[in-house]
Formats: sequence, C-alpha cells, structure tokens
Amino acid sequence: MLYPVVWHNDSVVLIDQTRLPNEYAAVEIHRSEDMAEAIRTMIVRGAPAIGVAAAYGMYLGAREIETDDRQVFLEKLEQVADLLRSTRPTAVNLFWAIGRMLKTAYEILGTVAEIKQTLLETAQAIQLEDLQTCQAIGDHGLAALPKTPEKLTLLTHCNAGALATAGYGTALGVVRSAWREGRLTRVFADETRPRLQGAKLTAWECVQEGIPVTVITDNMAAHCMKQGLIHAVVVGADRIAANGDTANKIGTYSLAIVAKAHNIPFFVAAPLSTVDFELADGSQIPIEERNPVEIYQVGDTVLTPSGVEFYNPAFDVTPAELITAIITENGAFAPGNLVCAYSTGTVG
Ligand code: MRU
Repeated sequence: MLYPVVWHNDSVVLIDQTRLPNEYAAVEIHRSEDMAEAIRTMIVRGAPAIGVAAAYGMYLGAREIETDDRQVFLEKLEQVADLLRSTRPTAVNLFWAIGRMLKTAYEILGTVAEIKQTLLETAQAIQLEDLQTCQAIGDHGLAALPKTPEKLTLLTHCNAGALATAGYGTALGVVRSAWREGRLTRVFADETRPRLQGAKLTAWECVQEGIPVTVITDNMAAHCMKQGLIHAVVVGADRIAANGDTANKIGTYSLAIVAKAHNIPFFVAAPLSTVDFELADGSQIPIEERNPVEIYQVGDTVLTPSGVEFYNPAFDVTPAELITAIITENGAFAPGNLVCAYSTGTVG
C-alpha cells in the first residue's frame, strides 16, 4: 500500500509528488512552516492528503511553542492554524482537519504537554480514519457501478488515488475495489492539464498495482465515450456544497457534460469531510488560481508567444444535476440527498 504521508522518527515523511513518476523521493518535514510550504508547492496534494498533512502540521507547530501557559499556547496555535489555512483555498478537508485539531486543543483542560500529546494522537487518528474511509468508499463505489457489462472500463480525472489521501484513494479506491473483484478491464486517465496529475500520478499508481491504464489528453474524453470505450466516470472532489454541487480539478465540469451527453453515469467519490454544509451551492466555493507558468511552460520550454494573457483556475464546479451519485464512506447518495449520508453512520 502506498502512503503519501507517514509519521516516522518524530517527523513527517512525504512522498514528493512533484517528482513522480520519474523520481520516487521522500521529504522530511520537521516544522509547521515547512509543512505549509509543502502543501502550497504541492509536494503533498489531493484534498484528504492535505487534510492529513495539515493535521500533522498543526502538531509540528504545537511542538514548537515554548510555553507552559495554556492561554498563550492556544493563541500561538491559532497562528499556526492561520498559516496552514493560507496554503490552498479550495479543498475543505484542509480547513476541516485544522478545525478538528484546534477544537481538540481547546477541549483538553490539562497541561500544555498533555495538549501536545493529544494533538499528535488526533493527527494520527485523522490519518487512520481517512484510510478506513477510502476503503469503505471503494467498496460502496463498487456496489454503485453499472451492473452491465460485467467488465467495465472507467474514466477518471486528475489523481484521486492513494497519493491524494491517507492511502487507497477515493475515485481510485473505487477503481482498486473494482479491480480486486474482477469487474474492471481498464482505467482511462485524463492527463489533466496543466499539472498533469492524471498522466503522472494516476498512471504511476496504476502501473504500481498492475491495473491496466490508458492515458488520454483531456480533449479526447468525448471521442472515447462516443466510441463506446467508457462505461462510467469516477472522479474525486475538493469541496461539495450542501446541494451536491462539486468542486474538483479543472476539467471535471466539462467531463460531466460530455458524460451526460453520452448517457454515461458520472460518480463523485469523496469522504464526508469533503462536504461543506455551510455552503448552500457551488457558487460560493472559493476557486484557487495558480501561477500561469503552469500553463505556458513545460520543463524549460516556453509554449506561447510573449504578449498573451493567461487564466489558470485550478478547480471548477460541476452542478449537482450532472452527478449520478456521490459515493461516501456511508454509501452512495443522490447529490440532493447528501444529508442522509450523516444519518447512516457516525461521522467525525
Ligand atoms: O490540485 P490537486 O492536485 O490537489 O487537486 C486534486 C484533485 O482535484 C482531486 O481530484 C481531489 O482533491 C480529490 S483527491 C481524493
């Protein structure tokens, strides 16, 4: 099993996702500032994975605070939280995990040393829960997939795999479960411009596990669907509004439209920590804009003439009506029925 975030020898070890697939390298993180930078620069990325990383970042920050005064400690911990919150705006798991760590700190009435120890245990619990959640999502997703044909070809976008979570993945968790049960022939992976998480990360994960994978450029999906090559689409999510509108990697929205046009089911696979019930609909989801260099430069090569302008939104919002079902750890739900997901199990 692949783990992008590991607690080892009193530090956090991250797989450097900016170097894959050409180099498998680890980065050791000892300080909260370095964790914030790792999230900002996407050494660690993917909504649940940055939630786990931020939780450990909170502990690392707590460890650095030199005081026995509970009130002073909590004030400084709020500053660590602000720093980590400033890294990436769209994935709500980041804010959810930081919020849970802060709540834990406020609830412990013991010494500062006891709060620090509980924060480490909470970060570890968030990590373990996410791993278990992904395995449950994989199995619920398998049950939700079309019953015919028996062997399916699934299309996914970006990387919602083990690398993007504590392990196993959300959308790729469904792929993994389908592969394990003999229901999968092949995955099509959108390359996912501009950062190529599909071509680099999803393809790499599939190769590691021997899952047959075909990489296509993003503009090939409609053609593949028309040719009958795709039976269902499964993607992850960065933030889901109360009505089921879903923010995910840029390009997901157009994929949902072409899936609808071809009558192909479109599934979102995500933990309930990705649902933001404070937002009524997707229009309120903050969309990260990243450096245009991601569009105009590949390696050392500049692709475009000088004098042009760029727009680089990292995410888009797929309207709920284009989504067949949202697959959570508590089962698969119609997007408008998401509130029922909370009544079928215990959610932290
Ligand atoms: O910019 P990224 O690579 O962090 O974006 C990742 C995605 O959009 C994923 O699909 C999403 O976070 C779900 S990961 C299980």
